[in-house]
Amino acid sequence: MEEKLTKDEYDKYTALCECGMRIVLARIENLRQEAEIATTSRNPYAGIQHRIKTYESAMNKCADRGLPGRLKDIRAMHDIAGIRIITLYKDDVYRVRDALVRQPSIEILEERDYIENPKDNGYRSLHLIISVHVYFCETTKSVPVEIQIRTKAMDLWASVEHNCKYKNDAPSKDAPAMFAKIAQILEEFDENAIRLRDDSAC
Ligand code: GTP
Ligand code: MG
Repeated sequence: MEEKLTKDEYDKYTALCECGMRIVLARIENLRQEAEIATTSRNPYAGIQHRIKTYESAMNKCADRGLPGRLKDIRAMHDIAGIRIITLYKDDVYRVRDALVRQPSIEILEERDYIENPKDNGYRSLHLIISVHVYFCETTKSVPVEIQIRTKAMDLWASVEHNCKYKNDAPSKDAPAMFAKIAQILEEFDENAIRLRDDSAC
């Protein structure tokens, strides 16, 4: 029976994920540079972050799901390699998405639009799980990469909520209502930001 992966075995798998993430990051960086040079359109790339999930975090996630942490559990996770793209405006989220998914050899495995359908707690973001081909000397492998695309306002909410969730053992009973309220304010902010931009053509 397959056992829980050791740290060394996990590192071997994440090295493959890193290859896939590098390819996607290079493509995003090229898009960002193109947008930066262009004088006729706005640059939607306000920030690009990336990470490989740590061994501890992957094993904790498996444990939460009642899984032993075998290679097949890790493979099924799809977010070992993660990229986050931050935009200034909400409509830029979809411009970034479209520019990426129209590229060859990027296949969308899953798309979840938490902007159109926010989570109950107020979380908003566009999530893509894509698969990218990695070419080796004699083999080609498909690697999943999670891409989260969100505005600065959505990112602010998610960062504070994440921080409170993980740093706070006893959150106040008012916290869910407060996060819902802040989410609503930030949603209005995102709408108004577009209006201000288009009214003043900035
Ligand atoms: P995971 O087990 O975390 O992968 O969840 P999932 O597979 O059900 O996917 P989902 O789209 O819900 O979330 C994936 C990732 O989005 C998470 O790892 C977080 O980075 C982010 N995310 C999702 N929901 C929330 C949330 O309520 N708050 C914050 N701060 N981040 C969230
Ligand atoms: Mg996930």
